[in-house]
Amino acid sequence: MSHILIVDDEVAIRRALEKFLTGLGYKVLSAGDGEEAIKILEKNPIDLALVDLVMPKLDGISFIRKMKLMAPEVIPIVLTGFGTITSAVEAMKVGAYHYLTKPFELEDIASLVQTALDHKNLKKENHFLKKHLYEKYRFENIIGKSDEIQAVFDLIEKVADTDSTILILGESGTGKELIAKALHFNSARKEKPLITVNCAAIPEELLESELFGHMKGSFTGAVATTQGRFLAANNGTIFLDEIGDMSPKLQVKLLRVLQERKFEPVGANQPIEVDVRILAATHQNLEERVKNGKFREDLFYRLNVIPIHIPPLRDRPTDIPLLLSYFISKYAQQTKKEIAGVTEKAKRLLTSYDWPGNVRELENTIERIVILKEKGSIDFTDLPDKIRGNSGISKSRGNLFDIPEAGVSFKNAIDDFEKELILKALEKTGWNKNKAATLLKLNRTTLVEKIKKRGLEKLADKQEG
Ligand SMILES: Nc1ncnc2c1ncn2[C@@H]1O[C@H](COP(=O)(O)OP(=O)(O)OP(=O)(O)O)[C@@H](O)[C@H]1O
Ligand SMILES: [Mg+2]
Repeated sequence: MSHILIVDDEVAIRRALEKFLTGLGYKVLSAGDGEEAIKILEKNPIDLALVDLVMPKLDGISFIRKMKLMAPEVIPIVLTGFGTITSAVEAMKVGAYHYLTKPFELEDIASLVQTALDHKNLKKENHFLKKHLYEKYRFENIIGKSDEIQAVFDLIEKVADTDSTILILGESGTGKELIAKALHFNSARKEKPLITVNCAAIPEELLESELFGHMKGSFTGAVATTQGRFLAANNGTIFLDEIGDMSPKLQVKLLRVLQERKFEPVGANQPIEVDVRILAATHQNLEERVKNGKFREDLFYRLNVIPIHIPPLRDRPTDIPLLLSYFISKYAQQTKKEIAGVTEKAKRLLTSYDWPGNVRELENTIERIVILKEKGSIDFTDLPDKIRGNSGISKSRGNLFDIPEAGVSFKNAIDDFEKELILKALEKTGWNKNKAATLLKLNRTTLVEKIKKRGLEKLADKQEG
C-alpha cells in the first residue's frame, strides 16, 4: 500500500483529501504546515506528498527542498491556491513532479497520484533490472529470478563452453530458442556460425538435402550442388529445433553424424567430416515418443547427454512481474507510448493466470495491450477476458458499469467499449474485416475507419498477414 502525505494549512482541503484518498486505498497522513510535515517524514515511510505552497512557518518550496535532502524517494506534487504559475514553476525547479491549481477536481488528483506512483514503481523496477540483469540474470534477454530459472542459468553456465550435445526440453513458448542462443554465444564457437534448422517446418523430402546438402543431378531439380546446413555450421553450432518431429529415415542419418561426425550429401559417395556442436530442442515428450516407436531410442540417448528442462511459466509465477515490466518497457518504447506499468489488481490477475502459451503468450498479450492503450497504467479492464476470467461481452460490460469512486470519463469508457467490441468481432472472424463488419452490422468502410481511428490497424494487419 502506498503512503501519501498531505501538507496543507486549510483544514477543509486536508479533510477532503484524506477522506478521498483513504477511500481509494492509500494510507494517508497529514500535516498543517511544513514543520509538522518534516516530523511525520522522520518517522514514516512516505511515497508521495501533496504540498500546498503558501503555509505558515515552513512554506511549500522550502519544505520540498528539505524533503529532497531527507527523503529523496518521495514524489512531491504541488497544490497551489493562488494559481501563481511562477511559484509553481519554482516548485518544479526544486523537484516537484507536477502541480495542480486550486480548486481542483478530486478525479484529477486520483489520476495524477496513480500515474506518479506507477512511474516511481517502474523506475524502481527498471533500475533494479539494469543493475541486476548482467550479474544476477547473467544472460542478456533471458529474464527470470525464480529458483527454477536460476537453476537453468546455472546449468547453462556450466555446459555452454563445452562441445557436449544438449537437449533443450520445455513446453511451447518457454524460451528454448533463446536458451540455444545463450549456449552458443557463451561458447568458444561464438564467432562461428549458429545455424538453426526447424525440423518441423521443412517438408520431409526436402529436409535431408537441407541438412546434408546434395550433389548436382542427384534428383530431379538438383541443378547444382548445395552444401547443406551441417557443412554451413562447420566449426560452429547447429540447432535442430523441433527434433521430435524428425522422420525415422532422417533419424538414422542424424544418429550417424552424432556418432562419427560424418555424413554423405544426397547423391554423394564420399562422406564429409564436420566439426559441429549439436543443440536440439523439442516441446514433445521424447521418452513417450520412444515408447510409442516414433523416436529412435539410440538417437534419444545420443541427444540426451545433457538435458535442460525449462519449467512452464505457471510453475514459476515469481518471474511474471519481472517479465511484465520487461515487456511493457520494450513495447512502450517501440510504440513511443507512456505506459507506466501495471496496477496491482491487473498484476494479480496476470500472475495467477496459467499461461498455457508460456512466455510467448505473455509477450504477445502485453504487446497487444500496449498497442491498444493510449497511456497510463495497464489496468484489469485492459486485460483479455481469458485472463480477467470473463467469458463474454455481457460481463465485460458489467465491468464498465462498475463505476469507481473517482468516477469515469464517459467518452473514454465508450471508446474502450467500442475498441473491445471491434476486437471481439475481429477475433471471432479470424481477423476477416468483411465478416467482422457483417457481425457488427456495419459497413465495411465504417469498420475500417473505426479500426483506424482506434489505432487497431497495426494489430489487425499483423494478424491478417
Ligand atoms: N525468460 C525469458 N525472458 C525474456 N523473454 C523470453 C523468455 N522466455 C521466452 N521469451 C520470449 O518468448 C518468446 C518465445 O520464446 P522461444 O521462441 O525461445 O520459445 P520456444 O520454447 O522455442 O517455443 P516453441 O516451442 O513454440 O518454439 C520469444 O519472443 C522469447 O524472446
Ligand atoms: Mg522454438
